[in-house]
Amino acid sequence: MDKFIIRGGKSLSGEISVSGAKNAVLPIMAATLLAEGRSVLTNVPSLNDIKSMAHLLRVIGARIDYSEESLKIDAKDVCFPEAPYELVSKMRASVWVLGPLLARLGKAKVSFPGGCAIGTRPVDLHLMAMEKLGAVIEIKHGYIHATAEKLIGADIHFENVSVGATINAMMAAVKAEGITNITNAAAEPEVAATAEFLNKMGAKITGVGTSHLIIEGVNELFPVGAEMIPDRIEAGTFLLAGAITKSKITVTNCIPEHIQSLIDKMKQAGCKFEIKDKSITLIPAQKIKPVNMIANPYPAFPTDLQAQFLAYMCLAEGSCSIEDKVFPDRFMHVAELNRLQADIRIQNKVALINGVKLMSGAPVMATDLRASAALVLAGLAAEGETEIARIYHIDRGYDHIETKLQGIGADIERVSS
Ligand code: EPZ
Repeated sequence: MDKFIIRGGKSLSGEISVSGAKNAVLPIMAATLLAEGRSVLTNVPSLNDIKSMAHLLRVIGARIDYSEESLKIDAKDVCFPEAPYELVSKMRASVWVLGPLLARLGKAKVSFPGGCAIGTRPVDLHLMAMEKLGAVIEIKHGYIHATAEKLIGADIHFENVSVGATINAMMAAVKAEGITNITNAAAEPEVAATAEFLNKMGAKITGVGTSHLIIEGVNELFPVGAEMIPDRIEAGTFLLAGAITKSKITVTNCIPEHIQSLIDKMKQAGCKFEIKDKSITLIPAQKIKPVNMIANPYPAFPTDLQAQFLAYMCLAEGSCSIEDKVFPDRFMHVAELNRLQADIRIQNKVALINGVKLMSGAPVMATDLRASAALVLAGLAAEGETEIARIYHIDRGYDHIETKLQGIGADIERVSS
């Protein structure tokens, strides 16, 4: 098991580039199952979650070639509509094969995902959407068994905004007979990227990027090539790396409007920005002002940057509160940040942060992907050495983060223990 050793307190400078968005690539990989032929995805990051999804698609019958930043998926011979427990338990995004398999083969057997470090994460909304489209769902022996002779367009309203359920519903509805309306749909850029990919394949989805999607079913979809959007969460993590170390840095290959909510909060903290088409230069606040924040669905502040922003606020001059309305219990990073001498307590699912002058390096443990990123940020700012164990979590979602951070002057190394 690898770990990171970070010697903190160093200034960073220069340019750091953002890779393709994991959370767009994963659903788009599932979407390729809808066409009989070879789709080609470019700007694909090198990540363990992408490898896990590739493995699952191979099990289902697709042929995959995953080389430097490019992923070729030939879904011609897809014939085995099953996502086994061993794979789904490793990565929840596996549940995204449900919609495409139903649409393509009329059946799917997908292991019921269990809990995970950031919350209970049910799939009731995914199943409700499939049922509305005419699928029969049975839960047996830990598996979702879904069958549908024919999918028929329907009105699907989500009581809560769900990225995953919106994507699954969209991927099933594109081949359903007639019109599907999805209301209270998720509008995250990754959902929009998936919808645009489906449209490129021949689907007819309008309202892309809004909370009301209208889908006119088509008979056939075709394989296509597409470049993946940059990862807004990675971009945000890098901006916060600059901010927490009070360093001027430039984040390149990003879409600034995708992280407007973060930029707004960082401005309130005292940061300034020079924003260009695809890059953001951060001029950090030297005195960090405390800023309250509530994570909510897009375009509000993303839950996937909550932990990293919280790490930043640990060094604010004053007190503030942070809540996460998407995953209200997503605070596993708090105990570890407190090991670095942050001063945070959780009260009624709200993190109350009293800023400290300096954090101090210590051994800590990564518990999930974004919590690990928060610990890296804290380690970069903390005085002395921070050792982060279990960094396989970070390898699920950040493409060579230590190499990228070394490129802007961070003293971080990966060691095998
Ligand atoms: C996606 O997860 C992302 N995962 C998450 O990123 C991200 O945190 C999340 O969306 C929110 O933005 C991927 O893209 C692979 P949801 P997803 O369905 O789709 C509840 C990361 O760190 N809900 O939008 O699973 C759910 O419990 C990861 O990269 C139901 O109640 O999230 C949560 O409270 C972690 N029933 C809320 O909705 C359902 O059927 C939002 O979850 C589905 C969800």
